[in-house]
Parts: sequence; structure tokens; C-alpha cells
Amino acid sequence: MNSQGTTQGAARGRGTRIVHSITQVRRAVAAWHGQELTVGFVPTMGALHAGHRSLMRRSKRLCDRTVVSVFVNPTQFGPREDLRAYPRPLSADLKACREEGVDLVFVPSVATIYPEGFGTKLKVGDLGNLWEGRSRPGHFDGVATVVLKLFSIVTPDVAIFGQKDLQQSVVIRRMVSDLNLPVRVVVSPTVRENDGLALSSRNVYLDRLSRNASAGIYQSLRWARAQIKEGETRAGRLRTRMRRMIEDGGYFSLDYIGFCDPLTLTEKAGARRPLAILVAVKCVTPGPAQGRRYIDNLVIR
Ligand code: PAJ
Repeated sequence: MNSQGTTQGAARGRGTRIVHSITQVRRAVAAWHGQELTVGFVPTMGALHAGHRSLMRRSKRLCDRTVVSVFVNPTQFGPREDLRAYPRPLSADLKACREEGVDLVFVPSVATIYPEGFGTKLKVGDLGNLWEGRSRPGHFDGVATVVLKLFSIVTPDVAIFGQKDLQQSVVIRRMVSDLNLPVRVVVSPTVRENDGLALSSRNVYLDRLSRNASAGIYQSLRWARAQIKEGETRAGRLRTRMRRMIEDGGYFSLDYIGFCDPLTLTEKAGARRPLAILVAVKCVTPGPAQGRRYIDNLVIR
């Protein structure tokens, strides 16, 4: 598919344009909209992997033109989260975008997005304090603020997000609805390693043993799904066994397992469908992965 994407793009005589300024993005998108072409948008923080690429492909299937942004957004990192250490392999990222036949890559500087004197911030409300938000105060306010800015710069018809970050997609849908933004939000399935671990830029930090143990996260989700399909509704019982699968071997410690409504993410008393099961763990193995969070989820309709 990679080479196919490239060939197709080339065959149409369109390459991948890399731009850094807001004006360049606005001009390109205005020209497309002027030709009645639809525009799909995939916001990213770079360090692109097959999960990101699947969103680009989804965009290309849905829209005439695809815009990707690569921007490590400082306002969504907490004071104890290492913004500076976030990987920034820009040339590999641009190569991935070219291979996928992306039309425009927007790579703004921090000063472009947050110029001197920047002050307006979005507050996402209660949704931002649940689950991930409890461990990462202010995180979703930062995500919503940057995504709103990017929407306002790119003016896409469709924006594609990954189910991997389910709460993020719910926050974005809420924002789009609350603020009447003229964009359709599409959520695309989680791309996984062969053993089920969800792809993430943080996976590189796992050493062999913790990497092996990390398969327990998805295994526990699949096990819970099978149990629920057989009629189990006792969240406590599911949680106890899932925790054991995740913490087996002592490489990960559980942060939370949430049984909640897939649309609002409010907790459910029993594991009854429609259901989202959210999992967050912390790696406790000494080494580069230590202290890092890994999240995953399954939605059961
Ligand atoms: P980032 O972590 O780079 O993720 C960009 C998009 O890729 C998100 O929509 C995320 O859910 C999706 N994604 C990540 N891993 C995935 C996987 N294994 N399968 C499918 N999709 C996956 O999320 C962000 O950046 C930022 O918060 C952002 C929205 C760009 C705002 O700064």
C-alpha cells in the first residue's frame, strides 16, 4: 500500500508539500475548497507509526485531499511529563507522509501556534477530569485548545482520530458539538502489534521482558470482552482478574480499569453493553520505560 500510495500520488502529478506557516496552509486548503474538493485532516505529534498511517489512509479514502500536522503540543504535557524528551524524527515522519501520498504536511513551530502573549485556552469540563484526566490534570484542555486552533487553521471537512486514545476522541467530539464546528469527526480502529499491544511511540522504551509482559494489557481486554459476551456483568470480578493478567510478572502496575459508557465515558455500575473498557498502566521495570503510562481500550456494542 505504501508504494501504491506514492505511485498514485505521483501519477496524479501531486507531490507532498511541506509547509511551516499558517498562511501557506490556508492558501492550499482554500484553493482545494474553491475546486469543491473535500479535505481530510490528521493531527499528530509526529514519531509516526503504522497507527498514524492508518489514519492517513482513512482520510485518503474519505476525502479528495489529506492534510497531516506534525506538532508536539507543549500545552498538553504536564509539569512532570517530559516534553523535551518527546521523540521528533522529522525526516522519517515526512518520508512516511510521502509514502502515504499525503498532500500537505503542516509543521509549525511553537511560536507559530503559541506566539508571545497567547492567552485564550479551552476548558473541556468534567470529561477532562475523568480517567486519563485524573492522572494528567489539564491534559485535555491542552489537547482541545491545540485541536481547535488546528481546525481553525486547516478548516478540514473531516478530521480523523484513533480509537487508541478513546477519551481524546470523546473530548474532541464534545468540543465539535459544543462549539458547532463544521467538521466531521471520524474515529479509526486501533492498530496493534501481532501480540495485540497497541502501537504507540512509547513502545520503543520497553525492554524485551516488559515488552513481552505488555501483551497482557490487550489479553486482559479480550478476556473481559469474552466474559461479558457470555453474560458476566460483575465489574469487580472482571477487574480483579484483569489486574492479575496485567500485573503478572511485576512489570506493570495498574492505574485504572474503567467500565463506562462509550459516548460519555461515565462509569457504569455493571459491565453492561454498550460498554467501553479503558485500561491505563504504568511500567515499573527499571530502565527507560519506568514510570511511563500505557493505555488501551475496547468498545463492546
Ligand atoms: P499522537 O499521539 O501523535 O496521535 C495522533 C493520532 O494517532 C491520534 O488520533 C491517536 O489516537 C492516533 N493513534 C495513536 N496510536 C494509534 C494506534 N495504535 N492505532 C490507531 N491510531 C493511533 O494524539 C495526539 O497525537 C495529540 O494529542 C494530538 C491530537 C495531535 C493533539 O496534539
